[in-house]
Amino acid sequence: MKSLIKKLVETTAPSGYEANIRKVIEAELKGHVDSLTVDPLGNLIALKGEKTADNTTVMLAAHMDEIGLMVTHVDENGFARFTRIGGVFPRNTAGGRVRFLNGAAGVIGMEPHSSLSSVPELEKMFIDLGVSSAKDCPVEIGDVAVFERTFEDLGNRLVSKAMDDRSGVAVLIAALQQIKSTPNQIAAVFTVQEEVGTRGAGPAAFGINPDLAIAIDVTLCGDTPLDNSSQVRLGDGPAVHIKDAGTLADPRVSAWIRQGAKAAKVPFQTSIISRGTTDAYTIQTSGAGVPTSGISIPCRYIHSPSEMVDVRDLENSVKLIVQLLSNQVKL
Ligand code: CO
Ligand code: ZN
Repeated sequence: MKSLIKKLVETTAPSGYEANIRKVIEAELKGHVDSLTVDPLGNLIALKGEKTADNTTVMLAAHMDEIGLMVTHVDENGFARFTRIGGVFPRNTAGGRVRFLNGAAGVIGMEPHSSLSSVPELEKMFIDLGVSSAKDCPVEIGDVAVFERTFEDLGNRLVSKAMDDRSGVAVLIAALQQIKSTPNQIAAVFTVQEEVGTRGAGPAAFGINPDLAIAIDVTLCGDTPLDNSSQVRLGDGPAVHIKDAGTLADPRVSAWIRQGAKAAKVPFQTSIISRGTTDAYTIQTSGAGVPTSGISIPCRYIHSPSEMVDVRDLENSVKLIVQLLSNQVKL
């Protein structure tokens, strides 16, 4: 699991530019699924198990994109202004480093700012690529980058800039590798453009037309000093994600997930968040509607360059999904 997650998080793939990570995932899944296709938006769809007249098609979605930056303008001295791709917050960018798709690296600087304890808006920041003129600048308007930060293995806790949602991607890959046969049809989708408004998952669900769905993503923890915004704790198991700013999970699907956790003997929690949403939002409201819930992986410092997950939560999420899909699914 650790080597898989390291490979996934070290791949550069901001929303809308998922080709690099899609290749890595395809290579991991070859030989473990019945088919692999890429839909018009770039979602990677892995099918496993036959569709029959009386079985269930279960869609599982994990988004493969990550938040990032896009260059809006390069000035005559070679400094690049940028805009956000997804939930990029000024407090997490100041002093950071970025890596462009073409390999170029840069440092985020800011205009003179007298306060030492606050940061200005992104409009007052720029990327310094170590050059002195626009003509020497290795990037141009429209080029995209992600945070540059090394993967850290702290034992049980793992840290990276892209645990959202490469940890979900890792869980889904590992589950597909472990499931030898299934009485259901599994449609595992590695979605695009989640971070800019869950844009990829809905069209994918429309194409698949599943009977029910689960979005696998990270969720906020409330277990750091003075934080009681959530009951979810790192290391206490995957969470059934029942409410966020975009979704109310289908209680039948959530109950099935809870039963699966009991049957698999994995610890599990319940996640409710007031901000943000997941692919469940657009899957649920696609086509004529899809009963949808979520399995969320506890994660600290979401959308910072140092998102932290617990490898035991990842392993227990895999166990849970293998348990859920090895038996005939009926709501
Ligand atoms: Co996110
Ligand atoms: Zn996410």
